[in-house]
Amino acid sequence: MIYMDNSATTQVLPDVLASYNKVSEQIWGNPSSLHQMGEVAANLLQQSRQQIANLLGVKRDEIVFTSGGSEGDNWVIKGTALAKQKFGKHIITSSVEHAAVRNTMKQLESLGFEVTYLPVDQQGRVNPADVKAALRPDTILVSVMAVNNEIGTVQPIGEIGEILKAHPKVHFMVDAVQAIAKGMDAVWFSDRVDFVVFFWS
Ligand SMILES: Cc1ncc(COP(=O)(O)O)c(C=O)c1O
Repeated sequence: MIYMDNSATTQVLPDVLASYNKVSEQIWGNPSSLHQMGEVAANLLQQSRQQIANLLGVKRDEIVFTSGGSEGDNWVIKGTALAKQKFGKHIITSSVEHAAVRNTMKQLESLGFEVTYLPVDQQGRVNPADVKAALRPDTILVSVMAVNNEIGTVQPIGEIGEILKAHPKVHFMVDAVQAIAKGMDAVWFSDRVDFVVFFWS
């Protein structure tokens, strides 16, 4: 069989598995604990945070580990919406987001937020001009995925970022769970992005 679903989940590299086993067997202390085993685990956690930050070109403290993409999407979208609701309750997203984003938006709608779902063209691409047209004085968040999980469309994140530079108070979140498989060029799209959700398997 030729396995063609590596973006969904992929075979673990032997080096990664060896490293995982080593940590599970030898460095299993709670990184928040004050004892020596905790300290060793905390150092390792910081080291891996730094390695990922170097790879992405961001600061170490900007990396937050979650259990997976759905938790990351929920955390960023709900966290931003609830923290910013006194400035407005309007959110813009696309009509082709993963269920992790779509269902989070639905939940926010039930809490009184208004969500604009942008259409896509035949290739599944959002038109950046539609983002611009949908922006309102009460818009607090724009959330558009980087790469579609069903048909692989790469969204124009750089162009949307350029538009949002004129709206510095609007937060920009990118669900980039499928982007790593396309290489770092596809991942690193815009310096205007506030939150990126990645998935490393
Ligand atoms: C684009 C996208 N966002 C979010 C998720 C959810 O990620 P997870 O399965 O790690 O919760 C997926 C999962 O495949 C995805 O493809």
